Amino acid sequence: MASSRTIIFGALLALVAVLFQPANQRLRCFGFYRGALENIHGQELKIIPGTPQCEDVHHHLESNLLFLGCQFDDYSARQRWFPGLAVFTDPSGAGDGGIVVVDPTTFKSTRLTLEGFSGPLVTHGIDILSDPSDSSTLHIFVINELPNPLHYVSATSTNSSEKKWRVQIEVFTHVLGSATATHRRSVRHPLINLPNDIYAISPTSFYATNDHHYAEGAMRVVEDLLEQHTAPWSNTVHVSFSASAAAEEGVNVTYALEGIHNNNGLGHGPPSRPDEVLVVDASGGVLHRARRNGADESIELVEAIQLDSSLDNPFWFEDARASSSPGGAGKDKGAYYLAGLAKAAELPKYTHEGALVPSLVWRVKPVKPIEGVEKKVGKWEKELVFQDDGQVLRSASAAVVVEIEPESQGKGGGEGRQGWLFVTGFLSEAMVAVRIDL
Ligand SMILES: *[C@@H]1O[C@H](CO)[C@@H](O)[C@H](O)[C@H]1NC(C)=O
Ligand SMILES: *[C@@H]1O[C@H](CO)[C@@H](O)[C@H](O)[C@H]1NC(C)=O
Repeated sequence: MASSRTIIFGALLALVAVLFQPANQRLRCFGFYRGALENIHGQELKIIPGTPQCEDVHHHLESNLLFLGCQFDDYSARQRWFPGLAVFTDPSGAGDGGIVVVDPTTFKSTRLTLEGFSGPLVTHGIDILSDPSDSSTLHIFVINELPNPLHYVSATSTNSSEKKWRVQIEVFTHVLGSATATHRRSVRHPLINLPNDIYAISPTSFYATNDHHYAEGAMRVVEDLLEQHTAPWSNTVHVSFSASAAAEEGVNVTYALEGIHNNNGLGHGPPSRPDEVLVVDASGGVLHRARRNGADESIELVEAIQLDSSLDNPFWFEDARASSSPGGAGKDKGAYYLAGLAKAAELPKYTHEGALVPSLVWRVKPVKPIEGVEKKVGKWEKELVFQDDGQVLRSASAAVVVEIEPESQGKGGGEGRQGWLFVTGFLSEAMVAVRIDL
């Protein structure tokens, strides 16, 4: 008969075996096993002026323009105030955010003049939506991570019964081709607490993620270190709002998805899968493919894809030429692109002057065509298409791909198709673009 010591030893061994895989995956995600980083910069590297500290970028297919949420303050502002990274040192760091448009063929940027809006604006995730009845009009939703005036009562006194942040969503209307965006309203609600990203549904509704349960302190660190089974404490909410002028008026919010770990970036699928929602567990390194249920606006997870780094805002590249290119659907270049941090464990060091924040972008390609939003694919090809030690791009939080027209590709006769991969980060000096094979 086994002694009680043997039984305890056996139980411990079993526990270690059960815990080892998840713990090992956590270490991998945080970058502990990544040694010296090899830079992967595609075939040409461009730096896009006028795009500082842009956390998010979206490609508007119809106009072929990129839209970014950027931060024009001195770099130190993010070190004083950025609730998204648990930085609440000094609310005077909340400042000069903006919306920037980039033409992916000329690489020129335009900062939009915000009409009817006087700031401050602390940008994080954004989303864009063509007006359903007027294709020249774009709705732009921008997260604004403001300090809470009920906490910061005056320059010298605070009220600790009130939370430090009061994040809201700014809704703008933009006429494509113009240099302005007009503020429509702010949207604020107690259930929109720590929003990180937006998924626009209509001109008056969207999803927003609350990516942490704990805004700061030791429990926030614990929340980041754990994963889906042990800390499913964040959520996505559905928000609808009226034409009211006041931030808290006419706003309805319901939970659309609960029980997710570090529910961070959100993304859309292609036009052929309009109900697809991409949901990212950022520190867990998981991309969830999910389905939106239009009847009650809930979100149902379909398939989890584990990557070996932290992740941020997800993007699907739709191959518009899949059926016309040689080989047809077999040559479909459609894939998810996911920006993340190569060494997330070192992120707390970013407050040190000159610290590097190594960045990367994964391409996640289905091995067989995706048959529908509700169908699992099962097998995915995962490949790094960009990596930087932090010298060229300090942090990466979003990436999009814009195909290069074959006629302008400048290489004779080859069948290889290429695109510009645009990558931006919340701490970066500027968005970068590299030419990659699709
Ligand atoms: C601090 O906030 C609490 C909760 O809202 C409120 O009841 C209290 O009156 C505030 N105190 C001051 C001094 O404003
Ligand atoms: C909010 O919900 C109420 C009650 O269901 C409804 O009457 C109202 O139209 C909703 N407003 C918005 C903006 O969705």
